[in-house]
Amino acid sequence: MAIKTIDPNTLATPELHKILLSAVAPRPIALASTVDTKGNVNLSPFSFFNVFSANPPIMIFSPSRRGRDNTTKHTYENVKEHPEVVINIVNYAIVEQMSLSSTEYGDDINEFKKAGFTEVASEVVRPPRVGEAPVSFECTVDKVIELGEDGGAGNLVISRVKRIHIKKEYLNEKGDLDTQKLDLVARMGESWYCRAQGDALFEIPKPIFNKGIGVDQLPVHVLKSSVLSGNHLGRFGNMEHLPNSASIEKEKASKAIQSILQMEEDQKKINALHEYALEHLKNHKLEKALTILFCLN
Ligand SMILES: Cc1cc2nc3c(=O)[nH]c(=O)nc-3n(C[C@H](O)[C@H](O)[C@H](O)COP(=O)(O)O)c2cc1C
Repeated sequence: MAIKTIDPNTLATPELHKILLSAVAPRPIALASTVDTKGNVNLSPFSFFNVFSANPPIMIFSPSRRGRDNTTKHTYENVKEHPEVVINIVNYAIVEQMSLSSTEYGDDINEFKKAGFTEVASEVVRPPRVGEAPVSFECTVDKVIELGEDGGAGNLVISRVKRIHIKKEYLNEKGDLDTQKLDLVARMGESWYCRAQGDALFEIPKPIFNKGIGVDQLPVHVLKSSVLSGNHLGRFGNMEHLPNSASIEKEKASKAIQSILQMEEDQKKINALHEYALEHLKNHKLEKALTILFCLN
């Protein structure tokens, strides 16, 4: 397989930035509200953002030094002056207004007004929250870690969650945040975004108490399959038990397996077995699908 290998030291920052942002994606978006010492409110989005700890509850985002002139952003200056921030979560309903709030207005301009967002007073910090956001986190800033002094250098704003506000319309009947209802958006490379909704959402069942058997426990013909993909193998490897010999013998005696085992050409036999197993995998009959795969041994 052809591979392009790059030493980051050989690239100009804008080129490197482009690769990093296209490859490390989708990234969640923190719509950060801050204030300066005069009380001027600022609102800007940051996709160098994630949650890193639940105990203590810590989120980190990074207003970087500008690549073009090595200046710092208002958000960075504000959290240094007044170490508080409200991190508002962005969903599809507010994505265009969020984008508008990234415009580089002067420090006396309140992006809440420019973007048409509602300022709602916070309970324990000075910066207001975005009334339209599905979830908002009032945070104090533990520290800011500057990663460099040149254009493009990140500044990690280590933020400790003090209050969480959730719009009730995004909760399910159990009172939990509902991923389907949230309709969150994320930033990709260049000007692309993605939306966590509909077919873009899927679940991967994971055994919590027992370890999966692992792909290495599957028969060699399965590992070399031209019918089953790496994702299919991963799903089988995630199962908690290998099929026992009684269930394999029972399966072998079935008409369907008998007709496959009677095929003359080995590769045809293997492909037919894998296709038969895949049919069951797709119908969520995982144990049966795994047992089928062991009928050749
Ligand atoms: C979706 C989105 C994500 C962004 N992520 C970042 C980021 O992670 N770091 C950054 O420095 N700028 C990021 N920007 C650009 C800033 O939002 C922009 O520079 C903003 O004007 C900074 O505002 P401030 O000077 O008021 O802090 C992003 C812009 C958008 C639209």
